[in-house]
Amino acid sequence: MKLNIAILPGDGIGPEIVEQAMKSVVAVANKFGHELSYEHGLTGATAIDQVGDPYPEETHNLCMKSDAVLFGAIGDPKFDNNPKAKVRPEQGLLAMRKKLGLYANIRPVETFESLIHKSPLRRELVEGADFVCIRELTGGIYFGEKGRKDNGNTAYDTNTYTREEIERILKLGYEFASKRNKKLTVVDKANVLESSRLWREVAQEMEPNYPDIETEYMFVDNAAMQIIQWPKNFDVMVTENMFGDILTDEASVITGSLGLLPSASIGIHTSVFEPIHGSYPQAAGKDIANPIATILSAAMMFEYAFNFKEEGKAIRDAVADSMAEGIVTEDIAEGKAYKTSEVGDWIAEYIAK
Ligand code: IPM
Ligand code: MG
Repeated sequence: MKLNIAILPGDGIGPEIVEQAMKSVVAVANKFGHELSYEHGLTGATAIDQVGDPYPEETHNLCMKSDAVLFGAIGDPKFDNNPKAKVRPEQGLLAMRKKLGLYANIRPVETFESLIHKSPLRRELVEGADFVCIRELTGGIYFGEKGRKDNGNTAYDTNTYTREEIERILKLGYEFASKRNKKLTVVDKANVLESSRLWREVAQEMEPNYPDIETEYMFVDNAAMQIIQWPKNFDVMVTENMFGDILTDEASVITGSLGLLPSASIGIHTSVFEPIHGSYPQAAGKDIANPIATILSAAMMFEYAFNFKEEGKAIRDAVADSMAEGIVTEDIAEGKAYKTSEVGDWIAEYIAK
């Protein structure tokens, strides 16, 4: 099969980690006899610097005509401390999500045996934790009406959700739960927010349609606590955009390294696969960043965008072996630390074998 992939490296360490992931993509394509065609597009601060727009029309067209998008990271410190910046790299990511209709962000939280001792949680709490966060990605406070009034001295962001938006994401949550351990945790703040009450209302209406799935409702503050107290109690968690942003960062570190977790954003048009970590500008160009989250995002790309389970597994197995053998970057190395490019080469060669 011919696979058309759009590559958006973005900022900071984005280009170097995406390069490593592409080594694995090429190795898998060769091994399984897929024809590969790929093209690079501009995004983030890099795109602002070059064409003044963090998600240029040309990049959008490239994404639309591709079968999948592999994304690095965006963000640049020169914008972070400047609240007055007219255009910010993050707007590129949000525009991409909206224009591609990527309403669901899927973030699996899994532990790796060789890293459990690095988890901030005790081994017995975290060992065996395995859940998926499904974050709504194109609605809520990220996209609601926002602005200033009173000469700029009052600011507001509005959290808006429609029934349709809630239904489609909950439906996906139920589908995931039915293929996993049959438990769906709906996270909201229904004791305070009207938007959350609609979430809960819709979930309660849908619940009877999934009799073999246990639906659990949890306030977000409680969920933040439960993730670190009893991470093994979760199977599939579904929540709105902002809560999901916060909870998934929290969830990612309990595994021992933020550098390891991949994500898939899926929806109406082309799906996007990206690591959940940021652009780590301090490490850019140094060949020290951990490429594993991006390589695992490429595995998710094969599984979700192409439904190629074997190809995804070939990448996962290679990653697991690199960790077991200690072929890892400095953030997780116990002994010798390998370079970003060395880890990328090792994993691709392992796949090719
Ligand atoms: C994420 C990031 C983004 C978000 C930023 C970079 C806009 O934190 O993907 O989780 O808040 O969604
Ligand atoms: Mg985030």
